[in-house]
Amino acid sequence: MRAIPVSDGIHWVGAIDWNLRDFHGYETPRGTTYNAYLVAGTDKIALVDTVKAPFVGELLSRVAEVVDPALVDVIVVNHVEPDHNSGLPAVMAAMPKARVVASTAGVRGVADYHDGLVVEPVGADDSIDLGGRTLRFLPVSMVHWPDSMFTYCPEVTTLMPNDAFGQHMASAQRFADEVGVDLALEELGIYYANILMGLSTPVAKAVAKIGEVGWAPTVVAPSHGVIWRGDALGRAIEAYGSWTSNTMRDKVVVAYATMWGSTDELASRIADGIAAEGVEVSLHDLAVSPIATITHELLDAKGLLLGSPTLHRAMLFRVAGYLQWLAGLKPSGRMGGAFGSYGWSGGAVEQIGARMTEIGFQMIGSPYTQKFRPTADDLAAAFEWGRGFARAVKGA
Ligand code: FEO
Repeated sequence: MRAIPVSDGIHWVGAIDWNLRDFHGYETPRGTTYNAYLVAGTDKIALVDTVKAPFVGELLSRVAEVVDPALVDVIVVNHVEPDHNSGLPAVMAAMPKARVVASTAGVRGVADYHDGLVVEPVGADDSIDLGGRTLRFLPVSMVHWPDSMFTYCPEVTTLMPNDAFGQHMASAQRFADEVGVDLALEELGIYYANILMGLSTPVAKAVAKIGEVGWAPTVVAPSHGVIWRGDALGRAIEAYGSWTSNTMRDKVVVAYATMWGSTDELASRIADGIAAEGVEVSLHDLAVSPIATITHELLDAKGLLLGSPTLHRAMLFRVAGYLQWLAGLKPSGRMGGAFGSYGWSGGAVEQIGARMTEIGFQMIGSPYTQKFRPTADDLAAAFEWGRGFARAVKGA
């Protein structure tokens, strides 16, 4: 297993999980990586982050390409979520002389996950001198958990921000400019939308803090996916700025579930109405499109329309499930609407509207609903309903 140079004195020694297809309940069709970095000074060697437990052997074989793992002096735990921290006990066993450091919340988190591990707290005032290479620390609560921390090596201006700037993407290449910057940015957006959207305020604060403490990274090496440098880094920072500031455009996402095709027909005509107003539209059947894709589309959209027929006096489970996903991500400042067909008892669109209001959507107008198979008049009315929503979006 090859260790890959990142900066002078820093190697990537992480693991590639080609087969991961679900993370936190959302789809990851490209797999992921668990990145760890070996920082070698003239006096000491540090490992920044570990990996998910089944991948410890892969990490250790990469470390061994650079140095005997038993000679590692320091292990930095930037984040205690198990994708990074479940391998810690086995890594510590292979690095018996290493002191282990984490943020204060990280020390508590390691104790909650593992019995009997000794971990020292570090904070923004601390640094570890490795001899010509220094590690500095920045606790960044809620990027992604309370324990999250950034680690920085000033001599080679390399930031290791764990989940921040990560993407779930397995690849043999380690840099964004090697896999293709557009692809890396797309995966960056999918990750941000589905993991960090609801944490935009702490993410924005953490990114601002990097400059405030005088760090000026030229390489940003996250814990998932590829590493950012050069022009690609500038584009990733620009994208983060847009997402943390909740920048949206005239765009509507239409997502729906259908039983016998009526709600599907309505959705298509509603989308036609939106497009007729010159507003971008992105249409998704929840039985077909991954929720990760739909949520990524919502990241820069001003509006969301959700559709469901009524079954057992309620919305279909896929719509309820998607609303639950959104409730966790807390999209803010967006307009919403509900539509769908029914047979003898309605109820779904009212439920959707109530749940969207709870989540924070500003509901526009009345829901659009019709009985059984939509007639030509129903479809014409759905088209106009879509146009009306699009006009509200344009006027916002
Ligand atoms: Fe990659 Fe929050 O763990």
